[in-house]
Amino acid sequence: MAERAYSGPMRVFSGVQPSGSLHLGNYLGALAKWVEMQKSYDCIFCVVDLHAITVSQDPKRLADQTREIAAAYIAAGVDPERSIIYPQSAVLAHVELGWILNCVARMGWLERMTQFKDKAGKDRERASVGLFDYPVLQAADILAYRATHVPTGEDQKQHLELARDIADRFNREFDIPNFFPLPEPMTTGPGARVMSLKDGSKKMSKSDPSEASRINLLDSNDEIVRKIRRATTDSEPLPHVPEGLAGRPEASNLIAIYSALAGVSEAEVLNAFGGRGFGEFKPALAELAVQKLGPISDEMRRLMADRAELDRVLSRGAGRAREIADPIMAEVRQAVGFWRP
Ligand code: TRP
Repeated sequence: MAERAYSGPMRVFSGVQPSGSLHLGNYLGALAKWVEMQKSYDCIFCVVDLHAITVSQDPKRLADQTREIAAAYIAAGVDPERSIIYPQSAVLAHVELGWILNCVARMGWLERMTQFKDKAGKDRERASVGLFDYPVLQAADILAYRATHVPTGEDQKQHLELARDIADRFNREFDIPNFFPLPEPMTTGPGARVMSLKDGSKKMSKSDPSEASRINLLDSNDEIVRKIRRATTDSEPLPHVPEGLAGRPEASNLIAIYSALAGVSEAEVLNAFGGRGFGEFKPALAELAVQKLGPISDEMRRLMADRAELDRVLSRGAGRAREIADPIMAEVRQAVGFWRP
């Protein structure tokens, strides 16, 4: 007999770690999409500081990094009245459910996680237990709110698959069909994958040692212009149609960035720039990038200067998050059979 489907409300959950500064890839791949999603869904956008400490962080800077990520969410257009913005460590449900789900997830499932293998590298023995356990905490993030949809990039697909396996196993083990929804990935559409400005085969990343490889949300207009001018390209003119970008990863990347920032298709961009060289295209791209990103970094700086206001937003967000998670956690405790007076 087919199981009845989960019938709870649709809810979106996503998060970014407060480690390192956000860049154009985070903006186009995540924040800009969240801004659209909040129009149609109830959204929870977390700053995942518990995840950040799976590798060493400077305790003197962590709280400010958390504020900076929250400022970026808001500056990008996430509305803190509509969506919930808060720091993960402020809501203890993540930790409590994380532990319970540790007892549901299997070692073998975690051993298969490629991100751990990449991040731990050869020195697996020295990686924190938290880094190994990272995907279980991620499952707890999502399930503590019974979130149904999770916007994330390609690199998080495997973690989301694991969250589904954990939810399903919990539901079976405690014999409560649909206790947790099986969270669905949300396809993030075009512009999701912004590549390095120095190497079109690598993702734009905050861990890339080359500053020139990425445009940070807090870069000045001059820095944006300079980085685009120095971006690696081939020497051919731009093609007239998207098919002509095949085998030209750097050209593809710049066209994809233009298209995402301008909100027009790549075909339209090439319609306008086909046949022209990068000497003409790059200044146009730089101008567009400054026009779109300048106001976001100005707003980020303004918000970060008003720390009291940011802290009020985060406290309020944490309170709203707890209101959702607390009753779910009460059901979890009951399902597991914990003592209750
Ligand atoms: N692991 C995610 C990343 O690095 C961040 C994250 C933590 C997350 N918890 C989450 C994303 C829950 C989506 C849902 O991008």
